[in-house]
Amino acid sequence: MNPNRSSLSRRQFVQASGLTAAALAAAPIGNAWAGGVRQTLKVGVVGCGGRGTGAAWNALEADDDTVITHLADLFLDRAIEARDKLKAEWGDRVTATDKDCFGGTDAYGRCCSQGNDYIILATPPHFRPIHLAAAIGRGKHVFTEKPVAVDPTGIRQCFAIHDEAERRKLCIAAGTQRRHEQCYLEFMQRIKDGAIGTPISGSCYWNMGELWSKNHEAEWSDMEWQIKNWLYFTWLSGDHIVEQHVHNLDVINWINGGPPVRAMGCGGRQARTDPLFGHIFDHFAVEYEYANGFVLNSMCRQTNGCANRVEERVRGTTGSAKTTSGFAEIYGPAEWKFTAKQRSPYVQEHIDLIAAIRSGNRINEMRQVAESTLTAIMGRMSAYTGKEVTWEFAVNSKLDLTPPSYEFGPIETPPVPIPGKTELI
Ligand SMILES: NC(=O)c1ccc[n+]([C@@H]2O[C@H](COP(=O)([O-])OP(=O)(O)OC[C@H]3O[C@@H](n4cnc5c(N)ncnc54)[C@H](O)[C@@H]3O)[C@@H](O)[C@H]2O)c1
Repeated sequence: MNPNRSSLSRRQFVQASGLTAAALAAAPIGNAWAGGVRQTLKVGVVGCGGRGTGAAWNALEADDDTVITHLADLFLDRAIEARDKLKAEWGDRVTATDKDCFGGTDAYGRCCSQGNDYIILATPPHFRPIHLAAAIGRGKHVFTEKPVAVDPTGIRQCFAIHDEAERRKLCIAAGTQRRHEQCYLEFMQRIKDGAIGTPISGSCYWNMGELWSKNHEAEWSDMEWQIKNWLYFTWLSGDHIVEQHVHNLDVINWINGGPPVRAMGCGGRQARTDPLFGHIFDHFAVEYEYANGFVLNSMCRQTNGCANRVEERVRGTTGSAKTTSGFAEIYGPAEWKFTAKQRSPYVQEHIDLIAAIRSGNRINEMRQVAESTLTAIMGRMSAYTGKEVTWEFAVNSKLDLTPPSYEFGPIETPPVPIPGKTELI
C-alpha cells in the first residue's frame, strides 16, 4: 500500500494524537526557554500547503535564530516540495533532510515526536484539535492556523487544550493575525479609551469571489478528493463562514471582550452550485447579539461578479469606525486615521510567539480563537437550520462532523443543508 494512502480509524487518529493519558504524562512540563536564554528555536510544520509553507517562511523571517527542522503532510510529496521551496531561499536555516519529512496519516505525530520546539499547524481545520493535542501533549509550543475546529465537539477539545497548555506552561499563538497587526492594536486601544463612546452595533464582511477548487481525478478515491478539495466540505473546512469570516468575527469579539450570546442567520447556495464545490453555502448573513447589548450584522459571500468587501464597521454613542487589514479610521469628535507603515502581521505573530517562548512571558491564544471559531460555527448552525442558536446551546451541542473512517475509499458528498428541514443538533 502506498504509505501516503494508508487508512486510519478515528480512534487510532485520536490515539496517535497524544491525547492518551500515557502520552500526556510522559511529556515534559515547563518552558525550556524561560529566563532569557537565547538559543536556536527548532520549528516543525504540519500541513505543508500554501499557508504552512508561508508560516514557516514567516517564522524564519521573524527571528535570525529559527530553523525549520521537520515537515509533515498527509502527502509526503507536499512536505518535500515545501522543504525544497524553503531551502531554495533560506539555505542552511532549513535543516530538514528527506528523513525529516514525513507523509501519511501519522505524519503529524512523528513530526511532534522529534526534538523541535514549536510546531506550525496548517492543515484543513477538521484535523486541528487532534494535531493541537499531539503538539501540546508532547510539550511543544504551537502556532495554529485558524479556524481551530469545525464543530462544537472539536471546540470543547480546544478549550481542554487551552487548559493543558496553561498547565504545561506552553505558548499558543493563533493565525487570527489581526490581533498582532499594528493598525488593529492602535484602533482597539482608542476604542477602549472611548474614541466612539460606548460601542453599540457593528457590521462585518468577508465578501469576495470564488476560491480555488480541485477536480476529482480518476485515480483519487472520494476521501482523497474531499481532503484535497477541502474548502467545500463542512466536515473539513467548517464552510466559508468558519474558514474565512472567523477573522472578522474575531475582531468584533475582541471589541466586546468575548463571544455573542445568540445568533440568527440565513444563507444558501445559489451561484456556486456545481458538485465540484461540494455541499457548502456560497452566502451567509447572520445577526449576533452580545451580552452587553451590542448587535452585529455579519455577512460573507464567495460569488463571482459581485461587490467585494472585507472589513469591520463599528458604531458607538459618539462616533463610528472602520477597519480592514492595514487600515483603520475613526469618525466623529475623536477623528483618527492609521497612517504608519506596519510590519506584516503574518511575521509579527511569529515575532510575538518567539518573544513569549524566549522570555517566559507566555501567550496562550487558544481560548480566544476557539471562541471566535465557535461564533462562526454558531452562525452556520443557525443558517443551515433556520433556527436561532444560543451560545449556551452551541457550546454544549453534540454535533460532531467526523466521518466514520478516514479510509481512502468511497464517501458521499453530504446533502446541501436546507433551512427549516436540516436538524439543529
Ligand atoms: N491566517 C490566514 O490569513 C490564512 C490564510 C490562508 C489559510 N489559512 C488557514 O491555513 C490552513 C491551511 O490552509 P492552506 O491554504 O494552506 O491549505 P492547503 O490546501 O494549501 O494546505 C493544506 C495542507 O494540509 C495537508 N493535509 C491535509 N490533511 C492533513 C492531515 N490530516 N495531516 C497532515 N497534513 C494534511 C494537505 O495535503 C495540504 O498540503 C487552513 O486552516 C486555512 O484556513 C489561514
